[in-house]
Amino acid sequence: MPPWVHLWTLPHLGLLLSESFEVSSFPTVTGIVGQDVVLPCQISTRTQPNNMEVQWKKIIQTHVETVHEYRAQTGQDVPGQEYQGRTVLLKDGFTSGNVSLKLKNVRPADRGMYSCIVKSNEWSADAATELKIAGW
Ligand SMILES: *[C@@H]1O[C@H](CO)[C@@H](O)[C@H](O)[C@H]1NC(C)=O
Repeated sequence: MPPWVHLWTLPHLGLLLSESFEVSSFPTVTGIVGQDVVLPCQISTRTQPNNMEVQWKKIIQTHVETVHEYRAQTGQDVPGQEYQGRTVLLKDGFTSGNVSLKLKNVRPADRGMYSCIVKSNEWSADAATELKIAGW
């Protein structure tokens, strides 16, 4: 690669890296029927990305179901159709990059794979966690 290519790309790469982040979760969490469970999700930067959007989705064999969605720009905080009144996304943790979702009154049918997707104007990252239900 000729040197001018580097000169041209470097500032862009720098911008990209400064706006980038990773998202992590735990491979599995275990819930107890009738109790609340926290689906963990942490943003690596520990600051809130620009115009952050948080999407929690459940991955079911053939489709993806919305569990909860939050948009910082509008302050819109919406549970998925099947999860009305059962999801809490605590804003307290946002300043430290904690976008964990509390799922209330866990049911056996809740077990499965969940995906935490965090988007900003410039970047997007996601992490998955499996919810197991004790005794099921
Ligand atoms: C993140 O927030 C959840 C509640 O939504 C809380 O249970 C959990 O302890 C927090 N995690 C950290 C690392 O602070």
